[in-house]
Amino acid sequence: MANGRVAVIGSFNTDIVLRLPRLPALGETLAAASLHRFAGGKGSNQAIAAARAGATVTMIASLGADADGDAALALWADEGVAARAARHPALPTGTAVILLEGGDNRIILAPGANAALSAADAAPPPCDVVLAQLEVPAEAVAAAFAAGGARRVLNAAPADPVAARRLLPLTDLLLVNEGEAQALAPEAGEDPAALARALAARVGEGAVVTVGAGGAVLALRDGALLHVPAPEVEVRDTTGAGDAFAGAFCAALAAGASHGDALRLGVAAGSLACTTLGAVPSLPRRAAIAALAQEGLLT
Ligand code: RIB
Repeated sequence: MANGRVAVIGSFNTDIVLRLPRLPALGETLAAASLHRFAGGKGSNQAIAAARAGATVTMIASLGADADGDAALALWADEGVAARAARHPALPTGTAVILLEGGDNRIILAPGANAALSAADAAPPPCDVVLAQLEVPAEAVAAAFAAGGARRVLNAAPADPVAARRLLPLTDLLLVNEGEAQALAPEAGEDPAALARALAARVGEGAVVTVGAGGAVLALRDGALLHVPAPEVEVRDTTGAGDAFAGAFCAALAAGASHGDALRLGVAAGSLACTTLGAVPSLPRRAAIAALAQEGLLT
């Protein structure tokens, strides 16, 4: 299958990852078991995930004029991701503090320059898929989606029902986890299939709800429902798993894959990403994704 072209409108963050024995109580000082710095940010993670999954990728972002911003540009160059990045001398590059307790994470975000991504900077190059998240302003995403000519995929994360509702009418495919889905469609209850169906009715093509160890469900507007269970893996850190899913899913769609195949590849990529510490280090490559996806069952 030929490489597809994916443009990602999104964030870059430096992730400061603290592994904790437990969460601190109010007023308590607690020693972390370890400290790591990784490149992160949902947009950058998804751009790298799509490139590692085989797509030709352009990343559109907003960075501080600082060392972390320089590191982002160097990373994208290393990963073969073309970059269009505005630099903002008065703003720091985005930073995320990630608290790990067991395999689960809690994230505190300082958006910095991500919040300054403008509609004027967000015009995508010619591509097959435009992929965006909600760590940059909705105006920028709306402008990129309005450009036309590509399939528009919105990963409505982190949960922001106001921004997501504004963007849904411009979106072809919506990607959300269970919590984000419930925030957008509380009337649909907790069943992932019901949530996916309710959300599919609000976009052009369909909606995916990812359910962690339960895999993912895709509902299409024509009524079709696909479920791909997740393979069992040893979970070290779930940070970036949703990004691995989104990148691999969009790389597959951009290359002309069916919804079912894109879903299987996305679930395999998300599962692999749980096995390694850190977002970027955990994003899998095409061969590993394809090998694990072979084992997936489409039901
Ligand atoms: O999806 C994971 C990402 O969310 C992390 O890399 C962190 O930067 C936050 O944006």
